[in-house]
Amino acid sequence: MTASIPTFLLNTGDRLPVIGYGTFGGKNSSEAMYEAAKEALKVGYRFFDTAYSYTTEEALGKAIRESDVSRKELFVNTKLSQTFHEPKYVRPACERSLSLLGLDYLDMYMVHWPLAWKFSGFEFENLRKKDEEGDIKCIDVPLIDTWRGMEQLVKDGLVKNLGISNFTLPMIKELLTQCNIPPAVHQIEIHPNLLQEDMLAFCKENNILCIASTPLGNPGLFGAGKINPLAEPEVLQVAKKYGKTSAQVVLNWGISRGCSVIPKSATPKRIKENFVVFPIDSKDVDLISKIGHRNTIRVCDPFDAFGPSNDVFGEHKEEVAKWLSLRKSVNNLKSNI
Ligand SMILES: NC(=O)c1ccc[n+]([C@@H]2O[C@H](COP(=O)([O-])OP(=O)(O)OC[C@H]3O[C@@H](n4cnc5c(N)ncnc54)[C@H](OP(=O)(O)O)[C@@H]3O)[C@@H](O)[C@H]2O)c1
Repeated sequence: MTASIPTFLLNTGDRLPVIGYGTFGGKNSSEAMYEAAKEALKVGYRFFDTAYSYTTEEALGKAIRESDVSRKELFVNTKLSQTFHEPKYVRPACERSLSLLGLDYLDMYMVHWPLAWKFSGFEFENLRKKDEEGDIKCIDVPLIDTWRGMEQLVKDGLVKNLGISNFTLPMIKELLTQCNIPPAVHQIEIHPNLLQEDMLAFCKENNILCIASTPLGNPGLFGAGKINPLAEPEVLQVAKKYGKTSAQVVLNWGISRGCSVIPKSATPKRIKENFVVFPIDSKDVDLISKIGHRNTIRVCDPFDAFGPSNDVFGEHKEEVAKWLSLRKSVNNLKSNI
């Protein structure tokens, strides 16, 4: 017997499980992610989050095909990479993902980052290649042009729901004034060290469901000390009160704030542990939110990951200004040689 869990209602009328399984493998191989996805299916996960750039679509598709879970029970989301933002690449990119997954439609397709880069082919190793300046340069493709391509996928029956990811409030506001199909979800980094209170309030008001990526704060990613919400005293206190583990508390803190959460684990025991839903009293939700009020940390920073041209959240303005000025001096020097 597998466990089943509650769902959130999307603005399209479809329903999204409150817990999904994240497939960003990181250091884990595709084989490990295939085994992990098989385990997740066995435990009862029905919502799977992947992305072309994670290179796990094929492993996930294989696990799905080999399971006895019917297609209509599943909610599969994948993401359009930055190099496919030019409208002519949106459909081929979606078809590529469908083919890797072995599916004939997606439950959701989302714009992975509000960043457009030059097309560099479909080979994974070329997707995120930095130039000699340690940067990936953006090209001028308005988000609405990419979105029109996404809308066409819905009209063509390839995709059921559209989503966005890592957008800022001004970007969403602009998209909402221009789009024909509003996004059903916004996937953003949310955990006790990154509360995203304004974003959550705006999305709720506009009937866009937030999906919390990195919902556990990816403990250990940066080594001891930088971030581990699971070890914070407030989480330990609430875990003791409810007789749950820290991870279960942090995930249900996210769900209690109205988000679907998509933890990743390649460890069978944790895959099971993370698939537990229970209500958390609003006082305890507020207690855990104190962590983010005293220490805000972003785990997945596009400035670090993609270079200075990609400071989506405007959190590195000084470093970007210094970099631009250094770049100008170097270019001046080069032109004088
Ligand atoms: N849209 C975006 O730009 C974006 C960005 C980042 C992530 N995401 C999505 O969000 C998903 C989750 O984010 P994430 O993978 O970065 O981080 P996460 O789910 O917050 O954390 C994953 C890490 O936590 C460990 N872990 C899992 N369950 C645990 C438990 N019960 N106790 C202790 N440690 C536990 C895992 O270790 P083991 O695997 O070793 O068990 C792994 O190292 C991704 O897989 C991806 O689908 C989206």
